[in-house]
Amino acid sequence: MNSEPLPSQHFAASRSEIRVNPEAAGRYRSLTQGSVFDDGTLVVEWLRLPPTSTADVVLALERTNGRWHYWQADSLGRGHEEIEGGACQGCHAGSVAPPLFGLPQLADLRESKPQVPRSPR
Ligand code: HEC
Repeated sequence: MNSEPLPSQHFAASRSEIRVNPEAAGRYRSLTQGSVFDDGTLVVEWLRLPPTSTADVVLALERTNGRWHYWQADSLGRGHEEIEGGACQGCHAGSVAPPLFGLPQLADLRESKPQVPRSPR
């Protein structure tokens, strides 16, 4: 989705790459309030952490049976687990078209967007 890795708010100093299934890609690119996504939508965010940390983190949002599911795994797919409860929802409830934030805007980021030094758990 993004042409270059972008800073992410998930972990301090992480860089993210976002991938979306082709059917939902257009809508994701032009995400607005009220955007609606079908079952089968899968948005994956690959976070590259700073060299000091051991593994990358992969987060995903998947829509099945009219419901969004939150997933987290490491870059090799180990520890693949569904995250229940408010760990992810708290932040994502305040997104553009909940639970989706959409692509971070390069222009906004260049202006000076402070990073939230937080882990998602
Ligand atoms: C501190 C607030 C916060 C928490 C907690 C959080 N997120 Fe996010 N998430 C964001 C923001 C902001 C974005 C926009 C892109 C970025 O900054 O990386 C985002 C983007 C995403 C995306 C890309 C799709 C999109 O457009 O929203 C996925 C997938 C994702 N988060 C999954 C998760 C999962 C899974 C969890 C729980 C393990 C989680 N997030 C917890 C703030 C948060």
